[in-house]
Amino acid sequence: MSQEVVISGAGLWKPPHRITNEELVAAYNGWAELFNRENAAAIAAGEITAKTPSSAEFIEKASGIKSRYAYVKDGVLDIRRMRPRIPHRGEDQLSHQAEIALNAARLALTAADKRGADIDMVIVSCAYTERAYPAIAIEVQHALGIQGFGFDMLVACSAATFALQRAVDALKAGSARAVLVINPELTSPQVNYRDRDSHFIFGDVSTAVVLERAETCTARHSYSVLGSKAQTLYSNNIRSNFGYVAYAEDTDPFGPANLFHQNGRKVFKEVCPMAAEHLETQIAGVGLDIADVRRWWLHQANLNMNQLIVRRLLGRDAGQDEAPIVLDEFANTASAGSIIAFCLHHEDLAAGDHGVICSFGAGYSIGSLVLRKR
Ligand SMILES: CC(C)(COP(=O)(O)OP(=O)(O)OC[C@H]1O[C@@H](n2cnc3c(N)ncnc32)[C@H](O)[C@@H]1OP(=O)(O)O)[C@@H](O)C(=O)NCCC(=O)NCCS
Repeated sequence: MSQEVVISGAGLWKPPHRITNEELVAAYNGWAELFNRENAAAIAAGEITAKTPSSAEFIEKASGIKSRYAYVKDGVLDIRRMRPRIPHRGEDQLSHQAEIALNAARLALTAADKRGADIDMVIVSCAYTERAYPAIAIEVQHALGIQGFGFDMLVACSAATFALQRAVDALKAGSARAVLVINPELTSPQVNYRDRDSHFIFGDVSTAVVLERAETCTARHSYSVLGSKAQTLYSNNIRSNFGYVAYAEDTDPFGPANLFHQNGRKVFKEVCPMAAEHLETQIAGVGLDIADVRRWWLHQANLNMNQLIVRRLLGRDAGQDEAPIVLDEFANTASAGSIIAFCLHHEDLAAGDHGVICSFGAGYSIGSLVLRKR
């Protein structure tokens, strides 16, 4: 039996609501003015620092982000709330994350020319899951009538690439015939919309990928996986501390210290060279040169970061055709970013063209797959 593993389908589901930088900044600035008014005496006494306004121009220049999608927009721009108002679902209802996972999974299955019965392993892999158990992946497996098994895994912004590597290994080892990897990135509940440094960074989205052995593939577009690599290096610079122990620690589970926060400058400086080095090693490891890579589906956190990494790899700038940018429309969607880039920019490749999917982010974690179009 062939050990060749292929990506045979990918799906992208966009939430129905969009939030522009201007809308987000208007809400932040409205909240900041209110905060300063309500705390005028303490600010005048030097006990607390006044909030300074955010700016849409800064956000676009510093990050390249122009807008983001929201699963639920209601509540995010309300200066008395500053978080989405997501209706609670009971235990007999489909969970929010399973719903958006299914939206992307069905598209990926169609693209791969597969049905639930063809899949026997489901990985839901993302930056956050809305509960500990039962796994969202098992809920999705049940909804799609899939036999076999499913599990959830969390690796922040590298969750998708790390799960793809798990899938490749399982297919090579024979523990699965076909794998569905899904990234339902519901990031908005973890954003601190009152934090000027990070209120603009994230968006919601859902992506999915089908992988199988080459001999079963009947898809129109498919890609041999030539190599996959996962790498981690501990860092405190990007954190989300929300977790179940807060209940026992008597700390506020929803306090700012538990929501997403980062030292963005340090992340930028440290992660760019790490990602470039990782890619150089990985591409050489499969016997290719950097110049052999036709397309770079990179993680989408920051436009300047991607430009720097590409410049270091190629020794020049690359346009949308070589290293597509999607973060202007989607913002940072945690692990889904490189998969969105793949979904939107792969069909034009010719047989024999090479491409690389690469993620980098919290942990730190870096993951990549080198692909060749069949
Ligand atoms: C987050 C990020 C966009 C911030 O950009 P930056 O250029 O590093 O910005 P800094 O935080 O250094 O701030 C630069 C200036 O802009 C100001 N600023 C910060 N946020 C602002 C905002 N929302 N509006 C206006 N000005 C802002 C700062 O106060 C600072 O002003 P100063 O120079 O007068 O002190 C950038 O660091 C980044 O993208 N890092 C990559 C990490 C990442 O996105 N990780 C996500 C997980 S992978």
